[in-house]
Amino acid sequence: MTKKKILLDVDTGVDDALALILATQSRAFHILGITVTSGNVSLDQAFLNTNKVIQWLNLDKSIPILRGSEKPLRRHPLYEHRVHGNDGLGGALADQPVQLPDGGDAVDFLIQTIEEHPRELTLIMTAPLTNLARALMKKPGIAALVKETVIMGGVVQGYGNITPVAEFNMYVDPEAAKIVFHSGLPITLVGLDVTRKARLNEKHLADLDDSRFGSFVRQATAQYFAVSEKRTGVRACALHDPLAVGVALDPSLVEKRAYYVDVETNSDLCDGQTVCDFQNRWGKAPNIQVCTDVQSERFLNLFMKTLKGE
Ligand code: BDR
Ligand code: CA
Repeated sequence: MTKKKILLDVDTGVDDALALILATQSRAFHILGITVTSGNVSLDQAFLNTNKVIQWLNLDKSIPILRGSEKPLRRHPLYEHRVHGNDGLGGALADQPVQLPDGGDAVDFLIQTIEEHPRELTLIMTAPLTNLARALMKKPGIAALVKETVIMGGVVQGYGNITPVAEFNMYVDPEAAKIVFHSGLPITLVGLDVTRKARLNEKHLADLDDSRFGSFVRQATAQYFAVSEKRTGVRACALHDPLAVGVALDPSLVEKRAYYVDVETNSDLCDGQTVCDFQNRWGKAPNIQVCTDVQSERFLNLFMKTLKGE
């Protein structure tokens, strides 16, 4: 079977780390690179975490990991330490030795990799969209060369997770999201509408305990579980970023519909809100395949089996 060529863009982050584990352990992908941006944590911390995770996994050193944007296009960074902990990994891998690669800029790498693999590459974006927006600003033509762009972000029929209406990745850099949404890229949006239905619970943790990744997952998600319990009454960790990887692995996990979607960038109350024109009131051509439902049990089975090496 030929492997799907992918490039991941992350702000590692507890669920980005789980997404990296799922992507690498699935063995279904040829990972051409991982680009990093600030988001959940600073760029330095996200770069450190990404390298730690990849080196801990003992992967082929040939996966390039590139530093990207230190801040959103026009706004100040906003970190999410409440959920991801001081180090972004909930204290997991604190003692993991790590060597940081020198090389290259994420934006140039994105452009070059897309140009070298015309219509072959799937981008999996699990962070604020700053790196990709900067690549598109520099070379708008790359949009036509990408096969597929799976974005974890937004929410079209529910409430936000950072403001009442906005999802974190959209809220942190809405100007970047706007550029990406209107670039002509083929986009699948994996928003909170579906990722909230894909939740890791205590039973899953117990089931993973004996596996290679059991203690990492338990430790990394502990704070996430606690915050979720406080906010919603449910002890769980929504697998936001892993579901984006899941959709790239198996598109049949979700139901999708094409809509025109835009992002609010100029409102005291609603910045970062993803506005979906369900009834085509604006009469504009759809620009995004929006995930409207997910077979969450099937996805969780895939996630668990992959982490257990089954
Ligand atoms: C998204 O925001 C981040 O906190 C997570 O890593 C995920 O990418 C969920 O809203
Ligand atoms: Ca993320």
